[in-house]
Amino acid sequence: MERITEINAMNQRAEMVRRQGRTIGLVPTMGFLHQGHLSLVRMAKAACDFVVVSIFVNPTQFAPGEDLEDYPRDLERDEALLKAEGVDVVFFPSPLAMYPQGSSTTVSVGEEMTRRLCGQSRPTHFNGVTTVVAKLFHMVKPHQAFFGQKDAQQLSIVRKMVRDLNFDLEVVSGPIVREEDGLALSSRNVYLSEAERREALVLSRSLAFAREMVAKGTRDSEEIILGMRSLVEKAASARVDYIAIVDPVDLKPLERIEETALVALAVYVGKTRLIDNWLMEEKNVAHHV
Ligand code: PAJ
Repeated sequence: MERITEINAMNQRAEMVRRQGRTIGLVPTMGFLHQGHLSLVRMAKAACDFVVVSIFVNPTQFAPGEDLEDYPRDLERDEALLKAEGVDVVFFPSPLAMYPQGSSTTVSVGEEMTRRLCGQSRPTHFNGVTTVVAKLFHMVKPHQAFFGQKDAQQLSIVRKMVRDLNFDLEVVSGPIVREEDGLALSSRNVYLSEAERREALVLSRSLAFAREMVAKGTRDSEEIILGMRSLVEKAASARVDYIAIVDPVDLKPLERIEETALVALAVYVGKTRLIDNWLMEEKNVAHHV
């Protein structure tokens, strides 16, 4: 496995692979890898000839006062994991290479999508994400780019950017990978104390509750959201940031669950903000009614 840190070198490597007629798969990450990341790496390996995993803790998607400095990092361990998966390149640019002095251009899909859900408490976050993801697409030139359903809003926003800016690549999504007890894997789970780790289960439990309500025929979003909220609030250290039921493409709120719906929530467990979601697809609703 090759480690590339220079943007020129990454560009040249990507050009070369493309000239050979081979396909490139990109898995963008901020490192501190877990099985959620690795599931995307495996999808990329299965679908593409040449797999690049980027590791870059992107400063522009953190607001002042968020956990940029504390964000967990372990490059050595990450590289060992990626090597074992047969990854071709780990792309590890420095912050200064990514954002040279004077760099000022940003990419935004607009407030309609970036100010909802997580964007209410993190209003600048998604512009940081789209800016860095657009730059990574230019640097790595992937045919396919792999993103987790775990970050459902990010996935919708990246898809929108790809459509709006005509990026010539396919966005592929992978399912949420969970711990055995249901907690969605996240690099931020290491922040949780033992007691908080137990209480963090209210996120996945409230989604299971939503799933049951839908299975029993409830379609009213408000009723489902209220039920989820009272379940989450039973945990002493949990505070709801938002619970929403939206259209997964444009993220607009849905009053009723009819066909496809995204049930998403963010909850502070102690000081740690966790997210989780359930993408309800048409076929599941049809199955339940
Ligand atoms: P990061 O949080 O490191 O996540 C990298 C990718 O792994 C994202 O696509 C995310 O959705 C996916 N992922 C995380 N946890 C997962 C889980 N439990 N199951 C399945 N997939 C999971 O998301 C980012 O980094 C950044 O915003 C990035 C896109 C790299 C831009 O900086």
